[in-house]
Amino acid sequence: MPNDVSQEVVEKARTLNPEDALKACGETEGLDDIAQRWDESGAQMPDELPGYLTEAQWRECREWGGLGPEVDEVLRRTAGAISQSPALLRLSWHCYWRVYLCPEACPPRGWPEFTARLGDDAGVFYMLVGLGVIPLMRKWHAELGIPEEVTRETAGQARCYCDDMYRTGHNGLPGMYINQLGWMRHYTRERYFRLGRLEYWLAPYNWDELVFRHKTTGEVAAFAADGVRFSKDGRVFADETMYKDGEGWTALVERTDTHVSGHLLHPDGHGTPRRVSLPLGGWEPVLEKGVMTLQMHIPSGGRMTPEACAESILRASEFFPRHFPDDAPVAITCGSWIFSPCLEECLSAESNLVRFQRELFLVPSAASGSDGLWFVFLRQGLPDPKTWPRDTSVQRAILDWIAAGNFWGAGRMFFMLDDAPRFGQQVYRNAWPPSVVRGSE
Ligand SMILES: CC(C)(COP(=O)(O)OP(=O)(O)OC[C@H]1O[C@@H](n2cnc3c(N)ncnc32)[C@H](O)[C@@H]1OP(=O)(O)O)[C@@H](O)C(=O)NCCC(=O)NCCS
Repeated sequence: MPNDVSQEVVEKARTLNPEDALKACGETEGLDDIAQRWDESGAQMPDELPGYLTEAQWRECREWGGLGPEVDEVLRRTAGAISQSPALLRLSWHCYWRVYLCPEACPPRGWPEFTARLGDDAGVFYMLVGLGVIPLMRKWHAELGIPEEVTRETAGQARCYCDDMYRTGHNGLPGMYINQLGWMRHYTRERYFRLGRLEYWLAPYNWDELVFRHKTTGEVAAFAADGVRFSKDGRVFADETMYKDGEGWTALVERTDTHVSGHLLHPDGHGTPRRVSLPLGGWEPVLEKGVMTLQMHIPSGGRMTPEACAESILRASEFFPRHFPDDAPVAITCGSWIFSPCLEECLSAESNLVRFQRELFLVPSAASGSDGLWFVFLRQGLPDPKTWPRDTSVQRAILDWIAAGNFWGAGRMFFMLDDAPRFGQQVYRNAWPPSVVRGSE
């Protein structure tokens, strides 16, 4: 029985130190990270095969995760290999413990792929740990009283992570990237769910922009965070040397009992040099640090049609106040390459991403040249238009734009939940500029 683990294997696994475990797998890389909290995970290692490596459990998890029976053979083979090797078992448990059980977030980083021992099945070593999220997530969602259909939708992230591995080849075998495992932990302890095309995490706003709404007209005005430097064309950079001396401006926010003044942001994701003052009698703060929001996350899978996004946002606007009435969110927010203002220059106006952007209030974020591009190219570092993959239209559009001499940066966004019924009407762009600028306040 390939999934049985003998007492001898467990006992031997317990005696291994990180260096010996790696060596026994024919690997040397990643020792410093693997050594972190090794003894703690060892002390909690079960006497029998950990549940996530048993066939009953991984089979159920892959069904919940949206994967078909075609992956069973490789899962069985890899779980069997792990359960027969003290070193692989010890490392697998350490990985699982670090992702889900460690008291503080301590995600594994820079570990080897274990190809010396597992050959082409190497990505499945991490996939078994990734699938292990599902029983923990189910337990957590049950405690919160979340309907099972939402748990099932959320569990579909397993399939999305696997698709990233399929996209890069790997002989058509499934797997997961180790750098995505750390994120799995959030599903086991945060109020974080998938509703249709998008995921939402109920959490306080943690940025410094200030957003106000006019009490009678309903218009929205957003101020850049105090102290943020803008280039002449309203961009923000991570590296100070990207700014030209003497050009641009630095945002300044001043608040009194009666007024707030600052530099307005344009909903297309650029800063404006315009400094305006809003009377607090007419305008009220609606989004600022500490206010409860939904942090949006975008699972892979394409097909982000305006209809799919609208349906998801409407669902979120009803779901969270119903389940968490004491923490009802006021806005959806997100930081991602998907909200980069550069995309409007790269992609057609008809693309799903540009159409989505136009419904939102885009907020500038500090551009570094590579932000978020791992999700598009599955590569780290600064993009190279000559050597990076050009398999999809999105990849080609971004690389061509960079090759033309442009500097890539990601972006952020907010969308006020009060506006959910009007999603599809480009509420922020159509109301720009706010009346306070037009002088008819
Ligand atoms: C595809 C994606 C980039 C945009 O969705 P979309 O524009 O509705 O995608 P579509 O289904 O219309 O596909 C448009 C093109 O993008 C390609 N594509 C799909 N997923 C992709 C991905 N993850 N990376 C690169 N290109 C992708 C499609 O193959 C298609 O290319 P083609 O025209 O050559 O056939 C997005 O939905 C996605 O899957 N992103 C990965 C997850 C992510 O980045 N999350 C944010 C993390 S911060």
